[in-house]
Amino acid sequence: MRLAGKTAIITGAAGGIGAATVRRFCEEGSQVVLVDIDADALKSVMAEIERDHAKAQLKALALDMGVEDSSKAIVDATLSQFGSIDIVVNNAGIRSYEAMIDAKAETWQKILSTNLLSYAFLSREALPALRRSKGNIVNVSSTHAVNPRAGMGQYDVAKAGILSLTRTLAFEEAPHQVRVNAVCPGLTLTPFHVRRFASQGKSEQDLRAEKVDHNLQRRWADPREVAHPILWLASDEASFVTAATLMVDGGTRV
Ligand SMILES: NC(=O)c1ccc[n+]([C@@H]2O[C@H](COP(=O)([O-])OP(=O)(O)OC[C@H]3O[C@@H](n4cnc5c(N)ncnc54)[C@H](O)[C@@H]3O)[C@@H](O)[C@H]2O)c1
Repeated sequence: MRLAGKTAIITGAAGGIGAATVRRFCEEGSQVVLVDIDADALKSVMAEIERDHAKAQLKALALDMGVEDSSKAIVDATLSQFGSIDIVVNNAGIRSYEAMIDAKAETWQKILSTNLLSYAFLSREALPALRRSKGNIVNVSSTHAVNPRAGMGQYDVAKAGILSLTRTLAFEEAPHQVRVNAVCPGLTLTPFHVRRFASQGKSEQDLRAEKVDHNLQRRWADPREVAHPILWLASDEASFVTAATLMVDGGTRV
């Protein structure tokens, strides 16, 4: 019960990595506020977790993280329900597939507001409570923040921005004993990818069996393999870890 008595906010909680993280946090005794724009997916993730963890204390908020006001609403709702905030996991994310030569302003704005600014705004709104609890923030970036590739530049730029945001916040908040860290997942087999490859005729089983070329372990990660390091960074076991970037990518080299 490494998070007994703690309260965590997790964004993108209805997705693969988010839902796996909510589960791990519940298993370790945390109260969790789940935030996602997809109200139906959020409802079904809540129902599954409540079925498996009868004692879980959860609150679901269907909100768009791409809108600045959502962050204050989340913090207010968390404080009124649970009274404190110990952990923020910024995880919500979207993808786009435009080469730089074709990159539209509208896509840039959408990616930056969802994948980067939402992390900055939720952190800003939660920091007064995190300073009181001496809590911490875990930001979910991507291996592609540091491993370049072609075709997803807007996403990769936003993910690189998250690493910079993480380090600045860690420096600014260290005097208040708030830790801030980032994880960089590599290929993780989440419902997003299952849906994406289904449209190309590949099943989840095909993906699990596939040999991945660009990581040392030559496979996809399971979402729980990303949730474990997030949990560790958020726990007191990582009390001397701040401003860190933890690669959770099977040794990706592209
Ligand atoms: N799966 C991977 O291979 C992989 C690799 C590297 C990084 N990541 C990152 O991990 C995080 C989680 O990814 P995932 O694979 O679980 O993705 P996912 O698509 O399964 O989950 C993302 C969740 O974020 C939610 N979301 C999207 N826009 C939102 C918004 N505006 N407001 C609130 N919620 C919103 C979605 O509804 C979804 O439930 C993302 O930040 C992603 O970029 C994933």
